Amino acid sequence: MPDLFDYVGNAEQFPVLGHWDFFNHAGVCPVPHVASRAIRRYAHEAEAGAYLAGTWYADIEKLRITAARMLNAHRDEIAFVKNTSEGISIVANGIDWQWGDRIVTTSVEYPANVYPWMEVARAHGAKLVMVDEVTDATGRRQVPAEKILEEAADPRTRLVSLSHVEYASGQRHDLERIGKFCHAHKKLFCVDAIQALGVWPIDVKAMHIDYLSADGHKWLLGPEGAGLFYCRRELIDRTRPLMIGWMNVTDAQNYGNYDYSLKPDAGRFECGTLNIPGLLGLKASLDMLMECGLDNVGRRIQQLTEFLIQGLLKKGYKIVSPRGLGQWSGIVSFTSPTHPHEQIFKTLRKDHKTEIAIREGRLRVSPHFYNTEQQIERLIDRLPGH
Ligand SMILES: Cc1ncc(COP(=O)(O)O)c(C=O)c1O
Repeated sequence: MPDLFDYVGNAEQFPVLGHWDFFNHAGVCPVPHVASRAIRRYAHEAEAGAYLAGTWYADIEKLRITAARMLNAHRDEIAFVKNTSEGISIVANGIDWQWGDRIVTTSVEYPANVYPWMEVARAHGAKLVMVDEVTDATGRRQVPAEKILEEAADPRTRLVSLSHVEYASGQRHDLERIGKFCHAHKKLFCVDAIQALGVWPIDVKAMHIDYLSADGHKWLLGPEGAGLFYCRRELIDRTRPLMIGWMNVTDAQNYGNYDYSLKPDAGRFECGTLNIPGLLGLKASLDMLMECGLDNVGRRIQQLTEFLIQGLLKKGYKIVSPRGLGQWSGIVSFTSPTHPHEQIFKTLRKDHKTEIAIREGRLRVSPHFYNTEQQIERLIDRLPGH
């Protein structure tokens, strides 16, 4: 069985290594060779005889089981979605909202975890409460858990929805603490996990997560447009599917028999034909990550981001991402006290084939486990000093 270090710096397994110093996994990941091979195989099988030769559907059911294992969930609690937004929209549209219900989130969420709740506010008279980020004395930015819990405690709060990791600051919320509170106070807890899945294992049970959604195109190393949605078993029949088609029902393959009985498992949230090539690509990547061990992957990302931060500090950059105990993530957000960020970003991309990102006016670097220390050193060398 391959070891994590078989992949580090391995341009056969990660062809992007031969072209770019790529550090934007919090944006869109380059897919590893295993995923592109799975998608090519699909394409060959599809042109030779559609589903006849392949094992597509059986493989996708294997993916459901692996995804459940990664989350400490059951396969019955996993649905495939086309992206994070769809999973969050299932929750937003699937609950029997009452006028005056409160929904608590932060004011620094990616819009996939904002607009669905704005729509609930518009359509059902719910109130959207957005807890602000604060900057501490050292310049680190985060939304305090205490404030989130304070808002969650309001008797009218029905649901708390958070990104596990905030896309711009890289803050990792303490989901165990927040989930425990939500569970104790009978609030629903929904998580946008796209910036966390593939970086460390997530335990939906220990974190008392009711709903979770994530596309696969970031840290899970899948292609865009193939994602996972988790719904806690007890909530499945209390959550209306967002879209209805032929596949939501128990006897889906009995086409002429119009028995509109929704599936008892999370399959009820899948309305029709799935994104087969996308999911096969995601499966290949997830299998690779699971073989390496998500704990090992996380440790390596922690080491790489720590190495990066030390280099940035030496060069006079200010780190914005919180990095206290249990707070690290794959995202390092930082600022230059003097140099325009746009210029830094463009020069890196154009002159050095080095890809980072700008989010909320700050520079953002997000390496994955296969990146090398040498790549990080090169990035630091290429950044202007102070
Ligand atoms: C926190 C977060 N949620 C969601 C998304 C993407 O949403 P979707 O999968 O619906 O395209 C991103 C992408 O940048 C993100 O950072």
